[in-house]
Amino acid sequence: MSDPVSRSDPVPGPEGTNPLLEYFERNPGRLIDKWLHYFDIYHRHFAAFRGRAVTVVEFGVYHGGSLQMWKHYFGERARIVGVDIDPTCKALEEERIEIHIGDQADGAFLEKLCSELGEFHVLVDDGGHMMKQQITTFEHMFPRLAPDGVYLVEDLHTSYWPEYGGGYRRPATRFGFGKARTFIEYSKRLIDALSAWHSRDPKRFPVTDFTTSARSMHYYDSVLVVEKGVVERPRARRTGRASFGPASARAPGSDVPT
Ligand SMILES: C[S@@+](CC[C@H](N)C(=O)[O-])C[C@H]1O[C@@H](n2cnc3c(N)ncnc32)[C@H](O)[C@@H]1O
Repeated sequence: MSDPVSRSDPVPGPEGTNPLLEYFERNPGRLIDKWLHYFDIYHRHFAAFRGRAVTVVEFGVYHGGSLQMWKHYFGERARIVGVDIDPTCKALEEERIEIHIGDQADGAFLEKLCSELGEFHVLVDDGGHMMKQQITTFEHMFPRLAPDGVYLVEDLHTSYWPEYGGGYRRPATRFGFGKARTFIEYSKRLIDALSAWHSRDPKRFPVTDFTTSARSMHYYDSVLVVEKGVVERPRARRTGRASFGPASARAPGSDVPT
């Protein structure tokens, strides 16, 4: 990425306001379809990318309004890319908004898309919300996201709805994804991968590419945000004076060098 992102960048705009929600409420453009509590989540995780030369990808174009909202929010240096299965969406292209037509559950399409996109920094999955779509898209797109990018999957409540392939803790039976279940169940395995540095069973529970490239996972109602970052083996240190006699060489339970 040409312009490194600092997550501590101040959030632009007057305190207490959310420029995305403001845009949505006075929407001067095409139709937008969003749950209202998503706006705080977007702004919390996307603000550091505003004003930068970033590529923002959204699966799920619908009437094109959210692409216009991202264009306004991220600023004039941003390139906005929409992806939809419906070919009529192609007509919604405009300056700095390009639209690719294809099925987000088709790995070959996603690979071709990645090679056409080049580096991308923000991804929003607001497509079909079926389990296979969300999981396939994550598996192909997350590894290709910029090293300091952010990946957001929304409408995860479909993981609990049978008509989307969901169901509470539904076991893996429907798709050929090995042990992959609903997206929520799939993502629970990512939580393990995030913590794999501390594995005592590296054969079954190894450090993976996800462990070394995902800095954090943030769960909200219906939304998962994964922030990427280069992650190295964690180190523990101690500073200050012991309060109760000599301190042991390592913190209780610590399995990493101090
Ligand atoms: C919820 S709408 C998107 C709403 C839009 N992002 C907004 O905020 O206004 C879902 C979109 O996903 C598209 N979609 C459904 N299945 C898809 C698939 N398999 N691949 C890509 N897009 C798909 C639909 O055509 C529809 O336009």
